[in-house]
Amino acid sequence: MPTQETLNPYGSLCAEIYDIDKPAGSLSDVPFYLARLKGIAGPILEPAVGSGRMLIPLLEAGCEVEGFDASDHMLENCRRNCQARGLPAPVRKARFQDFAYERRFAAVICPVSTFTFVFEFGEALDVLRRFRDHLEPGGLLMIDLPVLGAMWTDAHAIRTWTAANGDLLRFENQLVETDPLAQTSLSHMRYERWREGRLIESELEVMKGRFWGREEFAMALERCGFGQVQVFGNYNRARPPRSTDRGLTFEAMAI
Ligand SMILES: C[S@@+](CC[C@H](N)C(=O)[O-])C[C@H]1O[C@@H](n2cnc3c(N)ncnc32)[C@H](O)[C@@H]1O
Repeated sequence: MPTQETLNPYGSLCAEIYDIDKPAGSLSDVPFYLARLKGIAGPILEPAVGSGRMLIPLLEAGCEVEGFDASDHMLENCRRNCQARGLPAPVRKARFQDFAYERRFAAVICPVSTFTFVFEFGEALDVLRRFRDHLEPGGLLMIDLPVLGAMWTDAHAIRTWTAANGDLLRFENQLVETDPLAQTSLSHMRYERWREGRLIESELEVMKGRFWGREEFAMALERCGFGQVQVFGNYNRARPPRSTDRGLTFEAMAI
């Protein structure tokens, strides 16, 4: 039976492909976060920092930012990516469920729906309170979440890449089960390396996530010590969220 510790592992092949597919600075969330965080006076924390995709452009923009992650492979890639750019790598190993810092932050950010990996409702509330406790009063929390319907719609996908040495890298996602009451889904993400038509490496990532309703998450934030909750759709500040948006960004202030 998979547990919180063995689910969502981000192993070595998954981490390798993450870096190829989503290098530092990629995806449309980066300019959105940069624009919001540039004026922030004080340190920023990125939980589940991964390979540094978001951390690196923030460091390059002059922000003081640090992060933690549960995966050794993602952290190794993050340190290497920072080193390649002559940047410090202010990252450490920790989990949403147990991270602890001596200091408080001006902002805590969770891009690309990573917060869904805290898939138990009560634990998610504990993590939100832990975020609040690590923020200065008035500090900013930014969390991306997929819309609730993504729990059913992103059911199957196959993608491929070519590695630098010519290997074919392949990813296949299959939705295995959903629990509409707990609002969770469990997927099998299979990562493969093929060389000259032979499978030479494969990795199975069992991924479990919790999906939230818009108002439900706003209420969760308020219950956990946040105020001034705002919601944006598809990284657009100029209009209210729409039902057709794929992702929501929640912003809230620590009370
Ligand atoms: C989609 S990646 C996001 C990485 C980075 N934040 C970004 O924007 O590219 C998700 C990350 O969450 C991490 N993760 C998954 N479960 C975690 C947990 N319980 N605690 C800390 N990190 C976790 C994974 O190791 C992975 O690096």
